[in-house]
Amino acid sequence: MQYLNKLWKIFKEKFTDTGLAKGAFSAPGRVNLIGEHTDYNEGFVLPMAIGKEIIMLGQLRNDRLVQVFDLGYKAEVKFSLDSLSPYKKDTWANYLMGVMDEIQKAGYLLQGANLIFISNIPKGAGLSSSAALEVVTALTMAKLNLLEIKPVEMAHLCRRAENNFVGVSCGIMDQYVSCLGQKNYALFIDCRSNDYDLIPFKDRNYQIVICNSKIQRGLVFSEYNRRREECKRANDFFTHRFGHKVQALRDVTIEEFKQYQEHLPETIARRARHVILENYRVQASKKAIEAGDYITFGQLMIESHQSLKVDYEVSCEELDLLVDLALKQEGVLGARMTGAGFGGCTVNLLKRENVNIFKKTIQKEYKKITGIDPDIYVTIPADGAKVLKF
Ligand code: GLA
Repeated sequence: MQYLNKLWKIFKEKFTDTGLAKGAFSAPGRVNLIGEHTDYNEGFVLPMAIGKEIIMLGQLRNDRLVQVFDLGYKAEVKFSLDSLSPYKKDTWANYLMGVMDEIQKAGYLLQGANLIFISNIPKGAGLSSSAALEVVTALTMAKLNLLEIKPVEMAHLCRRAENNFVGVSCGIMDQYVSCLGQKNYALFIDCRSNDYDLIPFKDRNYQIVICNSKIQRGLVFSEYNRRREECKRANDFFTHRFGHKVQALRDVTIEEFKQYQEHLPETIARRARHVILENYRVQASKKAIEAGDYITFGQLMIESHQSLKVDYEVSCEELDLLVDLALKQEGVLGARMTGAGFGGCTVNLLKRENVNIFKKTIQKEYKKITGIDPDIYVTIPADGAKVLKF
């Protein structure tokens, strides 16, 4: 609350009071426990929201203008709701504009607003700071304008903003979990039906720990789109072979894959194998966590990383190093890269009693080899987007 008061003080210094509705809202980043590069193949994912978030304060205006101040980067933009088109400079504003554009396209009426926001989600670290910015913008604008937008609709709307306005053809995972996450639960999502299940993740003997490699590679978007393209090629191949439409790799079984793999170009076969097996791993992980079998879940995480490294080729040296170092530590049940890859973070499952020593050793060893100080975050599954004060 004290922190919020501080933010309101800054808000008041920045903008004159319009006398209209105002409020404070938040949306979290996420870590994906397992199910990587499966969402755009209509498969399964198992992320959780984390205790890092973006807080946005806003007040409605009497006109159609939106004025935004990013407290972290001390950057400011002003635009009209009547002329929304992507910026080439200040591209961070595209996440906000894209969301407002999609809200309007969905038929809702918006009034302008004054906004400030602050984030403690590291940028470009694969913890979905962009999805959090989209979701907190959607929630703020919806509430201030008294719009009834349900969390699932909000997630879809934010994803469309990223696809259409920002130009990244991401899947649904990040926006979904930022909207729908719940404290002490991981979120199992079926990315075809968009059904989801909250999976209790509250055994206090185990802890999720995130290691940030601090590596950011520019190729994420181009390689991401290339992987999507390769999956589509695998899909077309199976459609041709089966003589009926295969909607997504989700529809190909392991047996079918094995039967036909040698007829696929080698790279495409590896991409398909990752997606098909990863879908099985997510479902097995869900069962394992529900049964309290964290050993099996940890094993599945390890297999997932191996597959992302060798078959899908989206890992990098530093992520592999973090995983290797982690797996040598006592009490570590599983470790894997998380998110799109090519840098960013690893997610680790370990016994709570080993967390402190794990942190120290990884920090020391990773620094010794790479010269980089990794950041390490210990987090329980957190709540999704919420109203802080309205
Ligand atoms: C990014 C995308 C997600 C998902 C992951 C990979 O985070 O935004 O939709 O595809 O990569 O699992």
